[in-house]
Amino acid sequence: MKVAVLPGDGVGREIVPEAVKVLKAVSNGRFELELEYGAIGMSGVEATGKPLPDETLAMAQRCDAILFGSVGGPEYEQWLRKNKVRSGLLQLRRTLGLNANLRPVRPIRELASVSTLKPEVIDGLDMLIVRELSSDIYFGEPRGPVESANGERESINTMRYRESEVRAIAHVAFKAAQQRNRRVCSVDKANVLETMQLWRDVMTEVGREYPDVELTHLYIDAAAMALLRTPTRFDVIVTGNMFGDILSDEAAMLAGSLGMMPSASLAPGGKGLYEPIHGSAPDIAGRDIANPLATILSAAMLLRYTLKRETEAVLVEEAVRRVVAAGTRTGDIMETGCTQVGTRAMGDAVVAALAG
Ligand code: IPM
Ligand code: MG
Repeated sequence: MKVAVLPGDGVGREIVPEAVKVLKAVSNGRFELELEYGAIGMSGVEATGKPLPDETLAMAQRCDAILFGSVGGPEYEQWLRKNKVRSGLLQLRRTLGLNANLRPVRPIRELASVSTLKPEVIDGLDMLIVRELSSDIYFGEPRGPVESANGERESINTMRYRESEVRAIAHVAFKAAQQRNRRVCSVDKANVLETMQLWRDVMTEVGREYPDVELTHLYIDAAAMALLRTPTRFDVIVTGNMFGDILSDEAAMLAGSLGMMPSASLAPGGKGLYEPIHGSAPDIAGRDIANPLATILSAAMLLRYTLKRETEAVLVEEAVRRVVAAGTRTGDIMETGCTQVGTRAMGDAVVAALAG
């Protein structure tokens, strides 16, 4: 199996090596793993003048899976705006057809008091956010930069969904629910937006093909509130690209920290990109303090979904749980009585837990 490793920018360059350490440790003596490294984001611009260099895209296309860190930062955003180019990550998601973004929210019990919510509110929470990743207002046309119109600046983006796109993500959500607690909550804004009326209609139609799964609908504003009030009512949440982006950051607080939230972005053909849901965190980059666990847990998803190594995926998840339970913590999940460690030491601790 070939894995393209794309650390990207900011903390991506620190957390990805820790996930690679863990992948190497867990594969050692069990299966062959071939790693190839590529540049993306500002690192891609610096190396080749493009946020998604041709070599990186070719590598991503020929590999079975991609382990991704993060791209971003003020310099990068400025460069994209000036050159009117889309982020390398968005280009990659779109080009590879990565339409289904799975963001599991399964707080580690020992981290309950790190969350800003009361422990009894998140107790027993096990939820999966299925975010459509290749369409919506992120990619909808027409779109346009800021222009002068009637003496003031104006700009446009388009929320757009095709029936086939909604249908595809609906099937992913219902199939996931069949492996879980058989409940899907579709989140939209059908009370205001035509796009979202189509979303709701198609969800309802596809839902009829899964009589064993209960389908409910919530508007995004109500869903945002319910997620904090009674998060355990959810099993699978399925939603569009932008609402999924927002809800999953909100859900990260249920897990205690953005630094604990992994994700898998899957294409219908089976290709997978695995990345933490957080960004490049330029404010803490380069200081060996970022939490690598979201990326390590993303590597576990890579083992599960692309490599079909469920046993090894669980080994990694268990190792992470044991390390955190034992009180080894990065700053974002630090509590009194625990031991604060840096990025590299956290990676080492997970490797040690795998061995032990
Ligand atoms: C995410 C991120 C990205 C997104 C950014 C970095 C483009 O926030 O994966 O959630 O908005 O999709
Ligand atoms: Mg996001």
